[in-house]
Amino acid sequence: MTHPTIVILTGSGISAESGIDTFRGAGGLWNRNVVQDLANPQAFARDPKKVHEFYNMRRRGLIGKEPNAAHHALARLEAEYPGDVLVVTQNVDHLHETAGTKNLFHMHGELRKAWCQACDLRMPWQEDLTIEIPCPSCGDFGQMRPDIVWFGEMPYHMDAILAALDAAEVFTSIGTSGTVYPAAGFVEIARNRGVHTVELNLEPSDNHWDFSESHHGPATEVVPQWVDQILRT
Ligand code: APR
Repeated sequence: MTHPTIVILTGSGISAESGIDTFRGAGGLWNRNVVQDLANPQAFARDPKKVHEFYNMRRRGLIGKEPNAAHHALARLEAEYPGDVLVVTQNVDHLHETAGTKNLFHMHGELRKAWCQACDLRMPWQEDLTIEIPCPSCGDFGQMRPDIVWFGEMPYHMDAILAALDAAEVFTSIGTSGTVYPAAGFVEIARNRGVHTVELNLEPSDNHWDFSESHHGPATEVVPQWVDQILRT
């Protein structure tokens, strides 16, 4: 039996019930911090200590966090449809891979990775990062940063993501406000190709009109229900 090729975009809302902060809305990270001072290269050049402290706090916040029923449902879908499910996450946590998702792109990078701007080395990183830590490879100081895509920088894996969108038969968006491009534009690409588009979110997102199907509620409820519905068809 052939099954549809499905591209799934996830945002911070899928990890909210695992205890990881979202960015906007009640209690969001950006409501408590000024994004201009933290999540861009200019802020890092101006005050690397402050930026490192923000990301160290977020990296420490990942300790003990576990995937929830939504992450596990997506891993189950991929196991049933091997090779036909791609998860593109805006999230920088590790919960999709911990749940078992294998075909996965972190388009905004990963908190548990570090990047040396001097020699371009990327490496797994769990501890705090500071300007006093030299790059383990080139030895340069002050060039190690979290491997996070900041505002104004090009997201990772865009060619592969656009190619996957070009071949998708279903596009599903989960737990994202639909406010940050290019991710927020993926639904329009899918819709313009006549692809079935699904929104699974706590509430209608900024671009909810673009979706042909939507289910609103907590991800741990609406995502397993959607996966069960897909596997029944
Ligand atoms: N279940 C489902 N959806 C939820 C839940 C939940 N339990 N809790 C919150 N949401 C929804 C919110 O309604 C909102 O639409 O998740 C969405 C989170 O939106 P944002 O906080 O804007 O996060 P996100 O869309 O992932 O942000 C995109 O912005 O700051 C940048 O790089 C950062 O990747 C991030 C990007």
